[in-house]
Amino acid sequence: MSTKKRTAILISGRGSNMKSLVEASRGADYPAEIVLVASNRPDAAGIGWAEKQGLRTAVIDHKLFPSREAFETNLQSALEEHGVELIALAGFMRLMTPGFVERWRDRMINIHPSLLPSFKGLDTHARAIEAGVKITGCTVHFVRAEMDEGPIIAQAAVRVLPGDDPETLAARVLQTEHRVYPAALRLVAAGQAQSKDQKVTINQHSGETDTLFSPAI
Ligand code: GRF
Repeated sequence: MSTKKRTAILISGRGSNMKSLVEASRGADYPAEIVLVASNRPDAAGIGWAEKQGLRTAVIDHKLFPSREAFETNLQSALEEHGVELIALAGFMRLMTPGFVERWRDRMINIHPSLLPSFKGLDTHARAIEAGVKITGCTVHFVRAEMDEGPIIAQAAVRVLPGDDPETLAARVLQTEHRVYPAALRLVAAGQAQSKDQKVTINQHSGETDTLFSPAI
C-alpha cells in the first residue's frame, strides 16, 4: 500500500500552483499524492486542466449553500469520500470557519504571495511596491482561522526591481511560488515540518546561504 499522504488541492481560479503540486507529486519519491482537486467556483480554469489530467475533481459552488457551514459540510464529505489526509489551498478564495480550520489544524497549508506577516490580504504586489520594499516573496504556512495567519513553513525572497509594476512583480513571485510550494508540501507530507508554539521546526538542514541582499552587494 502507498504511504504517500492523500492530499486535496483547493482552488478558485487559474490553478498554476495546483499544477506545480500535481507535477511534483508525479515524482516516484514525492511523499504526497493528489487524490482530489476541488473548486468552489464552477468556472475555475484549473478544474478543466485537472480533469484533463485524469485527476478526481469536485466543484462545490459556495453560492448554492445558505451558509459557510453548509458549504464546508459538503466539502468535508468530499474530502472524507476521497480519504484526504492533507489539504493544500492554492488560490482558494474562501475564508474557512474556525471549526473547519481547527478540524484540519496542521493538516491544511496555504501559499500567499508576500513575505508574511507583511502584506496579508489582497493586492499584495501593489502594496509592496507602494511601500517601497526592496525584497518581497512568498510564504507557505499552516492555516489558522485569521486570514493569512499561521506558522510559517517556507518562504522565498524576490527582489523588487526598479520599474516593477504589480503585474511584472506578480509574475516573478509566481515563478518562485511554483518552486516553494512543492518543496513545502514535501516537507509537510514527509512529516519533516512540525508546528509548535506558532513556529515550525524543519528536520532537515539546508546548505543554502543564509543571507539574501537586495540590491545585490
Ligand atoms: C497565487 O499568487 C497564490 O499565492 C495566491 O493566489 C494566487 C493563485 O494563483 N494565494 P494560481 O491560481 O495558483 O495560479
